[in-house]
Amino acid sequence: MKIKFIITCALAIVMASCGGEAKKETPAAKQQDSKVETEKVDPMTNKGVGPITSVTLGEIDNALVTEGETIFKAKCTACHKISKKFVGPALKGITERRTPEWIMNMALNPEEMVAKDPIAMQLLIEYNGAPMANQNLTEEEARALLEYFRTKK
Ligand code: HEC
Repeated sequence: MKIKFIITCALAIVMASCGGEAKKETPAAKQQDSKVETEKVDPMTNKGVGPITSVTLGEIDNALVTEGETIFKAKCTACHKISKKFVGPALKGITERRTPEWIMNMALNPEEMVAKDPIAMQLLIEYNGAPMANQNLTEEEARALLEYFRTKK
């Protein structure tokens, strides 16, 4: 009788200690949180990836706008319209959605942009992986395009 009681007690102790084992950490859940964190970017401060690091804007330069419009018609209208989504996004109001540097880098360096810039990467997904073609522009041409876009709000 006494022995039975001792065994019962011993079993109870073993079971209690098993139940009290500490919960394990879940590193996978933690990793997911930080991934979401790094994907947040503010489009109005993001300058993109490419040769353009700083652009100073002044008053609208009408000669540059005309030049930009000519380049746009020759090299961009195969895929872009100003007010309608086409192969690529509508570009109306682009200067209100992106920084001048980002716009010029997208025009000059699309391959690296869609590979490394979070906003361009997202656009590539939205446009079903159809990549923006590099039109081999000079920085001056990209700047003229930017001036033209400034008039299309
Ligand atoms: C072959 C088609 C094609 C041509 C040509 C093209 N683009 Fe694009 N463009 C795209 C696509 C598609 C996207 C969306 C991102 C992606 O899928 O790569 C895009 C995205 C963009 C964006 C970002 C739009 C946004 O909403 O943020 C800008 C700016 C842009 N293009 C400017 C230009 C300019 C300037 C030219 C002419 C020099 C040009 N593109 C020529 C297909 C093209």
